[in-house]
Amino acid sequence: MATLQNKKVVVVGGSSGIGFAVALGALQSLASLVIIASSNKARVEDAVARLKAHNLPGEIRGEVLDAKDSDAVKAFAVALGAVDHIVWTSGDVPKAELGGPSGPFSIADSVDKGQGIAGQRPFPGGALGSSVATALEGLTRGLAVDIAPVRVNLICPGLINTELIEKMFGEHKDHITKTYVEKILMKRGGDPSECAEAYLFVMKCGYITGQKIDVEGGYLLI
Ligand SMILES: NC(=O)c1ccc[n+]([C@@H]2O[C@H](COP(=O)([O-])OP(=O)(O)OC[C@H]3O[C@@H](n4cnc5c(N)ncnc54)[C@H](OP(=O)(O)O)[C@@H]3O)[C@@H](O)[C@H]2O)c1
Repeated sequence: MATLQNKKVVVVGGSSGIGFAVALGALQSLASLVIIASSNKARVEDAVARLKAHNLPGEIRGEVLDAKDSDAVKAFAVALGAVDHIVWTSGDVPKAELGGPSGPFSIADSVDKGQGIAGQRPFPGGALGSSVATALEGLTRGLAVDIAPVRVNLICPGLINTELIEKMFGEHKDHITKTYVEKILMKRGGDPSECAEAYLFVMKCGYITGQKIDVEGGYLLI
């Protein structure tokens, strides 16, 4: 079975939710170095401490990076040097504007991004988010061609129980997730670790690129 032994993994958005689960999963898969980056220093430090508490063998580092600041992203990428995998899960509660992570993806074996399933089954009133989600599929395939043999893949989460859901829905969270869960074949939201498995797969499998994996409990089927 493949591992991430001797691999260096960067997770932008690794202080919380899906990114944190990927960082932990990478350490459990024996990565030698995991660097998590996000915009809030206190959250980065807290996440590094939580990862270290697992007493896994790999080295853990935290960096403060605002993924919306393209100059900062470039400086971060240059300073990183050679790494094996870049996972990009940074994201915030959607606003009514176009935007998102951009920048060079330095030297890596793979780049694995995250984006929801809204492009395939748009929510009412969510046309803008849906168009961005769909654009990421094209970006993934285009980058897979342009920067081969570096591999580029896209993970599309359905409802995953993370801090983002709390932030996004606030006091309406229980009502909204209950309605959503009824439309999911698994009849529940996913655990971040279940979504992280898809990221770990595309990192470990050296023969997959330009692909999209939906981790959505069967929501798209009904
Ligand atoms: N959870 C779901 O059900 C779901 C469904 C579909 C799509 N997604 C997408 O999946 C991605 C991860 O979601 P999640 O649920 O894991 O969210 P989360 O728990 O809120 O984690 C988001 C991460 O992104 C970081 N971040 C936010 N703004 C940033 C910025 N400007 N620069 C750098 N880092 C930033 C956050 O840390 P700081 O606050 O410290 O910056 C945090 O580490 C998001 O793009 C989200 O839209 C999630």
